[in-house]
Formats: sequence, structure tokens, C-alpha cells
Amino acid sequence: MTDAQSISDHWGKGDVFSKLLDTMKLAGIDPHSLTVEQLAPVDHFHARGFPATVELADALPIKKGDTLLDIGSGLGGPARYLSKRFNCNVDGVDITASFVDAANKLSALVGMDEAVKCQHGDGQKLPFNDQAFDGGYTQHVTMNVPDREVFFAEAYRVLKPGAFFALTEHGLGEVGEPHHPVPWSADGSGAYLMRPADTVAALVKAGFTDIEVTDTGDKYLQGYHQAIETAEKGKAPIFGVHILLGGQAPQIVRNAARNIAERRTHPVQIICFKPK
Ligand SMILES: C[S@@+](CC[C@H](N)C(=O)[O-])C[C@H]1O[C@@H](n2cnc3c(N)ncnc32)[C@H](O)[C@@H]1O
Repeated sequence: MTDAQSISDHWGKGDVFSKLLDTMKLAGIDPHSLTVEQLAPVDHFHARGFPATVELADALPIKKGDTLLDIGSGLGGPARYLSKRFNCNVDGVDITASFVDAANKLSALVGMDEAVKCQHGDGQKLPFNDQAFDGGYTQHVTMNVPDREVFFAEAYRVLKPGAFFALTEHGLGEVGEPHHPVPWSADGSGAYLMRPADTVAALVKAGFTDIEVTDTGDKYLQGYHQAIETAEKGKAPIFGVHILLGGQAPQIVRNAARNIAERRTHPVQIICFKPK
């Protein structure tokens, strides 16, 4: 099996869209009157979920009418949020076919399939022309990317001069050797964590400038602890990310928190620019 296939198998088990629909119904959500807000507990599939997308969006210079690129677009939650908030178009690309299928069907259900379009592909070989986008972002994707230099060079290629590029990820911590399973890997396979300083060096090598790195570990830790507490009280939402994480969800969330606390991972948000 190729690395791409095993990474995609890790994320998108089975018919993801049907699983989402079935769980929506269990949660009393009518798919025919679905809103972007109702999807938010599931389709912002990264640490801290929706609030983290909002904070990233607050920090980005997005303008009405922009065309953005979401690399590793997952179920399309961040793309739909940005499109709706800034009145812009977003193209998504993701290596997991069942996520792309679900993303496009969810966009159709909320009437956003013109503004947000996702397609199957690898961030290391983007299916877009040079200088096509006003900005790009990749949230919690690069942990699975073996060749960060190629990935960043591709992002650079498809961005217009002056465009922003934003990235959130679990970098490798000073102590290293994360406990598994974690959201991006069951046992360490398909995981390519890099120390934040090395990620910055790879961005510089690709040509990006004005690189701003923010530590997000404390906020993630708070978010994970909150999720653990809610689950322990039996109050986890029916329509939540456990649908995507599977049966090991409680252990995955505990490990994600423990890895940050033990400095095995080092989560960061990075914003940079392609020079004008
Ligand atoms: C944690 S999910 C994040 C999804 C989305 N960015 C979000 O924040 O809701 C990680 C995503 O990265 C995708 N992915 C991993 N490696 C990729 C690659 N090389 N190219 C494109 N997508 C990739 C996975 O398929 C998965 O959808």
C-alpha cells in the first residue's frame, strides 16, 4: 500500500457522508434544513475545532471576492466558514476521497456548492495553475506530509505574489516520541512531525517571508481537557468528532493532551507571505 493510500485509509474509514447523515438524524438534525453552524461540531476537524478556525480567520487578511486554497480540506468546514464570512470562493484539495465526497455533499446541502469546491489530490502535487490564489491555508494536515519542502513549494507556486499562507499543526516537541494513537496516526505510521524551527526553515526555503509563529499548545490543552471532562460527564454531543475518530476517540484525545503536556508535541500556528 502506498503512503498516500494508508494515510487516506487512516482518516476516511468507509462511507463518511452516510455516517454523518445517520448521526445527524440520531441527533435530531434535519439534513434538509441544515446550517453551517449545525455542522461546526464535526466539520472543523482539528484541535479546538470551530473556535480555532475563527481565531485563524481573525488573523488573516482575507478580502471579499478572494479565491482561497484549503490544502487538506477535510469535510470542508473551514472552507465554508471562510467563504460565508468573507464572501469569497474556496477550492479545497484532500488526499482522502471519502472526505472530498462528504465535503461536496455537505456544501450542496447548505447551498454553498458554487462557492466551495473540493477535489481529490495530494498537497505535494497540487492540481492548480501557478499564481491562482489570493491566499492559502492548511489546518492540521502537515503531520502526515512526508516531504514538507515539496508541499510548501507547491503552495508557493499556486499563490499570487503578496498572498498569505497559514498553517496549523502539531510540531514535534523537544522530548519527541508522541504516545499513540493520536488523531493523525494509530501507531506512528504515516506521521512526519517536524520541530517548529525546521518547519520555519522549510517555509523560508520555499520562499515565504514575514513568518509569524504562535504557540497554540496551552489553548489546545485547555480544549482537550474540556472535551475529556465533557465526555466523562456523559455530555459529549451525539454529532461530534468521535464519529470521525472512531472507537479509540477517548484514548486519542487523552494522548493528544498528554503529548502536549509532556512536550512530545509542540502545536503552532504559522502565518507567512509570498513576497510581492
Ligand atoms: C485533521 S484533518 C483536517 C481537515 C481540515 N483541514 C480541517 O481542519 O477541518 C487532516 C486532513 O489532512 C488530509 N491530508 C493528509 N495528508 C494530505 C496530503 N498530502 N494532501 C492533502 N490532504 C492531506 C487528510 O485526508 C485529512 O482530511
